[in-house]
Amino acid sequence: MTDQTEAWIVNPVGPLKGDVTVRGSKNAVTKHLVASMLGSSPSVISNCPDVGDVQITTSMLESLGCEVLNENGTVTVNPTTLSNSRVPIRFSGMNRIPILMVGPLLHRVGEAFVPLVGGDDIGARPIDFHVNALRKMGADISITEEGLEAKATRLKGAHIELPYPSVGATETILMTAVLAEGRTVLDGGALEPEVIELALFLQRMGARIEMRPNRRYIIDGVDSLSGAAHRLKGDRIEAFSYLIAGLITGGEVRVHGCSQDRLVTAISTLSGMGAQFEITDTSVSAWADSLTAAAVETDTHPGFMTDWQSPMVALFTQCEGMSVMYETVYENRFTYVPALKTMGAQIEMYNTALGTQASRFVGSATPCSVVVNGGAPLTGTEVVVPDIRGGFAYVLAAAAAEGTTTITGTHHLDRGYNHPIENFAELGLEIRTALVPTPPGLG
Ligand code: EPU
Repeated sequence: MTDQTEAWIVNPVGPLKGDVTVRGSKNAVTKHLVASMLGSSPSVISNCPDVGDVQITTSMLESLGCEVLNENGTVTVNPTTLSNSRVPIRFSGMNRIPILMVGPLLHRVGEAFVPLVGGDDIGARPIDFHVNALRKMGADISITEEGLEAKATRLKGAHIELPYPSVGATETILMTAVLAEGRTVLDGGALEPEVIELALFLQRMGARIEMRPNRRYIIDGVDSLSGAAHRLKGDRIEAFSYLIAGLITGGEVRVHGCSQDRLVTAISTLSGMGAQFEITDTSVSAWADSLTAAAVETDTHPGFMTDWQSPMVALFTQCEGMSVMYETVYENRFTYVPALKTMGAQIEMYNTALGTQASRFVGSATPCSVVVNGGAPLTGTEVVVPDIRGGFAYVLAAAAAEGTTTITGTHHLDRGYNHPIENFAELGLEIRTALVPTPPGLG
């Protein structure tokens, strides 16, 4: 354990007001970089966020032999130099991206090794859907202690039914089916905007992808794909989070760069609580005279997304009345709640389903629902970030609290937010980084 660690020191200043521009989404950019591996010529992805996940993915691509050039958020990937089939073990646990590289590597070099996937500790996050789909398409896969070894002479189309509309598994299937021999029919595929964005990029590269009603994708494999260019659409998680920054402090934030259609459920949910909006073709701003409680459950798109859950719970702490949040996508996404409670939030956690859907995690010991008694004042304290989205909720709570909050574990936030300190400072928040003694539990 090191003696000192970086912290974000937040001093609340009252209502946050102003403009924030979000860049392309963290959860689309990395997938586009991986899809570029499939082309026979370079691809150019623009409006990329300046986030750790882009750097990690770039390093992984380079370790495979691809040439990657990032010029102020415009990333060119030259896949023609790809020569290595093994993602080095040093990338183990860093993010969820290596598993997505298996299909493209099998197409390009006939074999693949990827280290075990990481990402936030928000549930078991298995990769069985990915592995089963790859096996159905003809990959020979073994799981070792270090990662996943795969081989395939020629991948073939298959009929795959996902037990749950997994974002990542849908992306694995799309990126594998596009160059496989014959037709793949995917039932139960994810329809998140970032997945559709990837499908459209693959179509731009020459893939034959049809989208049918009822979560069905039909993909006819082609012999080759060319590189393509794409400007990424705005990050709806960041956009929502900055709208909450305005609302939780009684201010008003205008977010540019994320279109209304990506925020439709966020806007309707917040409207139901009393928020008011000004929406244009290029921006969304939100403010409220007062906000009332709500009962919200997370869901697949177009439902209320799981990544909006923690900022919303932070907002609930400052709304009048009892609010409920039921998490249905991950089984362990309330790890940030105890820290909010130490700040004074009145929140109770339950492992019963306080919503309309049956729980997917029956018997899980971790809570899937919280009830928030809104209106309790928050006080600044020292908190350790458990995962990326929970960490941002701390910043939001800190902005609405009395006194200073010291937030450590901010490396989670660096992985997925584009220049958050600058953005918050632009909105008027007093926020700075400092070295502080490493708290227990943060190695
Ligand atoms: N699942 C399985 N087996 C699998 C794959 C998924 O059981 O093989 C389960 C998961 O455990 C989870 C559910 O299916 O309960 C949904 O997981 P999904 O595969 O959709 O999630 P993901 O692809 O791993 C992406 C985002 C997440 C986002 C979810 C849901 C990336 C890199 N991550 O994860 O983003 O919450 O989709 O929209 O795209 C974040 O940005 O903070 C984040 C966690």
